[in-house]
Amino acid sequence: TPVLRIGIAGLGTVGGGVLRLLQANADLLAQRSGRRIVVAAVSARDRHRDRGIPLDGVRWYDDAVALAADPEIDVVVELIGGADGVARVVCETAIAHGKSVVTANKALLALRGPALAAQAEEAGVGLAFEAAVAGGIPAIKGLREGLAANRIDGVFGILNGTCNYILTEMRTTGREFAEVLAEAQKLGYAEADPSFDVDGVDAAHKLAVLAALAFNARVEFDDLHIEGIRHVSALDIAYAEELGYRIKLLGIARRTTEGLSLRVHPCMVAAASPIAHVEGVFNAVVAQGDFVGQVMMTGRGAGAGPTASAVVADLVDLARGLRVPALGIPAARLEAAPIVAMDHR
Ligand code: HSE
Repeated sequence: TPVLRIGIAGLGTVGGGVLRLLQANADLLAQRSGRRIVVAAVSARDRHRDRGIPLDGVRWYDDAVALAADPEIDVVVELIGGADGVARVVCETAIAHGKSVVTANKALLALRGPALAAQAEEAGVGLAFEAAVAGGIPAIKGLREGLAANRIDGVFGILNGTCNYILTEMRTTGREFAEVLAEAQKLGYAEADPSFDVDGVDAAHKLAVLAALAFNARVEFDDLHIEGIRHVSALDIAYAEELGYRIKLLGIARRTTEGLSLRVHPCMVAAASPIAHVEGVFNAVVAQGDFVGQVMMTGRGAGAGPTASAVVADLVDLARGLRVPALGIPAARLEAAPIVAMDHR
């Protein structure tokens, strides 16, 4: 069987999950993609941590950028995170060396997605990021491929597993925010810096990526309205419940006559609505298409298994030779769309 050689930069929660998935489903993946996906190189801060998978024969790099330039690997999987610094250099270096990139890095995509996509398109390599938005939900492929025939008028959803977990636990146990956050961190849901989760920034990163795909637009991240859940108390949640509502952190992107409306903030949703029942680490992505109507996808939005599922799906695409413009249309043709200030509809 032909082989796809990959290098994984970053072996945290998600990287460990990717290693385990590649091992557990190796035969299935080879069958589906026509190639054997082989981990040829890895880089991580801690060489000696036990990740439950033997890494004998795998080349170790202390320097992720050196891994990205390794001539013996075909695809670089970037799982370091962060919009600037080493993650960005790793992606750019891989592309410059003619390698495709699979990344879970929503911050990088939200801030530099079009530039990175343009670089990949010029180099004739793939850039894939299913894992960057809503963990295991195939939200990127769903919007870009599944709904490719529709004009999309809006997309919204629950885009942060940590916040949804915290809000759910606060509602069902009456505990306060700080206590539950520690739990979400232990479960491997939270970002390295959990303020990105609880202040809504992580959800905003994902919303910016979804909006770029939905509207074929170049989104200025700094123009998003972002508000997190730090100030939501167990009492707020209890009052909302008495009135027949649940509090959810939503990301909402809409096309308006004046431009795009993009915002992240806590919302009261009717307890009987489908999105109110998306609880715990689950996320939801709802898209409104002109011919399909409303489509809702739900599933686990964070954690090792779900995120690894999305990363490896991208590897299967690349192994199959599938190539789709990363942002749905060539990056050079993304439309500049003004983002309107917070509207209250
Ligand atoms: N910290 C993120 C979340 C992980 O809680 O949703 C997935 O991007």
